[in-house]
Amino acid sequence: MNNLGVIFDLDGVIVDTAKYHFLAWKSLADELGIAFTEAHNELLKGVSRERSLDILLDLGKVSLSDAKRQVVLEQKNKAYLNYITKMGPEEILAGVVQLLDRLDRLGIPYVLGSASKNASLILKQVHLLERFKGIVDGNSVSKAKPDPEVFLLGAKLLERIPEHCIVFEDAIAGIEAAKNAGMMAVGVGDKTILKAADYNVNNLTEINEGFFKAFISDQRTDTNESRLHKTR
Ligand code: BG6
Ligand code: MG
Repeated sequence: MNNLGVIFDLDGVIVDTAKYHFLAWKSLADELGIAFTEAHNELLKGVSRERSLDILLDLGKVSLSDAKRQVVLEQKNKAYLNYITKMGPEEILAGVVQLLDRLDRLGIPYVLGSASKNASLILKQVHLLERFKGIVDGNSVSKAKPDPEVFLLGAKLLERIPEHCIVFEDAIAGIEAAKNAGMMAVGVGDKTILKAADYNVNNLTEINEGFFKAFISDQRTDTNESRLHKTR
């Protein structure tokens, strides 16, 4: 028995959906006459759908009425769903299934903490939905990352205190949200970008057995900081 819990971001950690978001935003941008590149798409990672539209419109210096905004948000999501509904388990990122298997073996529960309103559908598509103890997504939160709300709700589902939660995130806003929640943040991706994380990996294949064991064995006595040093 241990007191640890894990919270996974979805997009960029479990599956790479950024390419589908890009295609869907790009087709809307073309229609609105806004130049939109893959570099611009980076700005939308971890950001809510509504905020993503604000960023896109700012790029093109375009303003829309509230009614038109709702129309284009629906249009973008429809285009995105066209890609999502074709996804399958082959799109799960490297190391994810092995990591979930390891957590199961160690008896560490895990939930999802995502900004996406499509999170459950995506997990279902890749046959992972049933494995999670709970889902916190864009439908369950009122404040977007870097607000800690999504992860604090995750800790509740895990029945763990924030200090015993480890968050896996690929976006700067997500790392900030985890830190704002008082949790351990593992940055998945470019460590020069995810500088604020407590620990960095390129992908989940780099998380080995020892990573969690160091936390479990020392949970009573050590600080998070000293545990992390032991995993390095
Ligand atoms: C996040 C993605 O997980 O979900 C963002 O990183 C996306 O790029 C956000 O904008 C919202 O997603 P959705 O599926 O609700 O449009
Ligand atoms: Mg992400």
